Amino acid sequence: MKDKKLTRESFSGSIAVFFATLGSAVGLGNIWKFPYVVGQNGGGAFLLVYLICIAFIGIPVMVSEFYIGRKTNKNVMGAIQELTPNHFWKSIGISGLLAAYFIMFFYSCVAGWVYSYIFKTIRGDFANVTADSANALFGKTVVEPLPPLAWQFIAIAVVSLILIKGVEKGIERVTKTLIPLLFVLIVVCGIRALTLPGAMEGLKFLFRVDFSKIKPGIILSAMGLAFFKLSLGMGTMVTYSSYFTEDTNLITTSAKVSVADTIVSLLAGIAIFPTVFSFGMEPQSGPGLLFMTIPLVFSKLPFGYFLLIIFFFLTAIAATTAMISIVEVPVAYFTEEKGFKRSTAVIINAIIILSIGSLATFSADKGSILGNIQVFFGRGFFDTFDFISSNILLPVGGLLIAIFVGYFINKENVVNELSNNGTIKNEGIIKAYFLILKFVTPILLIIVFLSSLNIIKF
Ligand code: PHE
Repeated sequence: MKDKKLTRESFSGSIAVFFATLGSAVGLGNIWKFPYVVGQNGGGAFLLVYLICIAFIGIPVMVSEFYIGRKTNKNVMGAIQELTPNHFWKSIGISGLLAAYFIMFFYSCVAGWVYSYIFKTIRGDFANVTADSANALFGKTVVEPLPPLAWQFIAIAVVSLILIKGVEKGIERVTKTLIPLLFVLIVVCGIRALTLPGAMEGLKFLFRVDFSKIKPGIILSAMGLAFFKLSLGMGTMVTYSSYFTEDTNLITTSAKVSVADTIVSLLAGIAIFPTVFSFGMEPQSGPGLLFMTIPLVFSKLPFGYFLLIIFFFLTAIAATTAMISIVEVPVAYFTEEKGFKRSTAVIINAIIILSIGSLATFSADKGSILGNIQVFFGRGFFDTFDFISSNILLPVGGLLIAIFVGYFINKENVVNELSNNGTIKNEGIIKAYFLILKFVTPILLIIVFLSSLNIIKF
């Protein structure tokens, strides 16, 4: 029998590793959440807190996931089973797979809306848009049952077609082309925004340093955000790092990806808020920002038609490359543990995601056909999928990963992997990593988890 490591696909080199991993981190979170949260919660001061969260939670967990993935070259379930015979730790794999599905159920629905907005913009739906008509259009987009389902299907189909091509020809090729393109497009939108009268107001909203806003609740939301932003706690990074090359520097890769992801979020903020303020509008976050405020303000600019197409296109890129990394988690599991052909695994997962994900689409708004059904503590399907994945599975998964690598893996093995068998001289950094991973990260994650369930309150 051939050695699995030799027959298994991998990324071609460090540039591919960087763009694929960044493609996972950069997603809807960068565009509709992060910039607003920064602006609302103390600007530069929040940014500082966020960077500290990255250092104490984000990077340690990401490096631990990288260790698990590259050491074993396996999917999340197979990797854990190779590292320990103890069945308890399978929970990392199970929770990771569940989280991947739950995130995809609602994320693919929102990605479908984004795709549909590219189409609507090109068709000219926003030509004479007003605040009321922008709201009405979004309401219609969400509530009508069939068109959003069709767009959700298209989003899942695009992701599936890329995944069927495999790691190098699919994931690598797409992220290596699209992530630099996304960067260029976001800079174009940013420059346009900065040249508007009143741009300063928007920049002030985003960057003004206000330490008085930094309260315990804000620190918690920074921790949660760091986690979701960096695609941690569900085996995405385990799976991707299982395709990393032997010479990838795991620690610097995680630092570079975290910083680049933050820069992309800030660029999104620079593209959005000056424009919003120059029209005297109030900034908001979430669907309202993306699907109502942005069409309204962008369409009023000279060349707004093109700008709006560019903006939704770059958002679609962000959402798509993030989804690719989410679906790769179960696809790798199905192919390696269950013996499915890659294409069969992709198609089965697409069917699962669309069938259950349609429940998110049918419950996204109060007026939707399933809008009144409550499934989990008063939440409908859409919110339940979001809540269970982001607030429960990701922090718990991250906590288990931190404890597993921090306390249950032979330290020497981890040191060898993180220093590429001694070829990188980084003993000091590895020491700091262990210290934080064992004593700081778990405590912070437990606090995030309990407070996200409202068990402790600040
Ligand atoms: N990081 C992605 C975003 O910001 C979301 C994501 C979460 C992707 C978990 C993969 C795993 O939108």
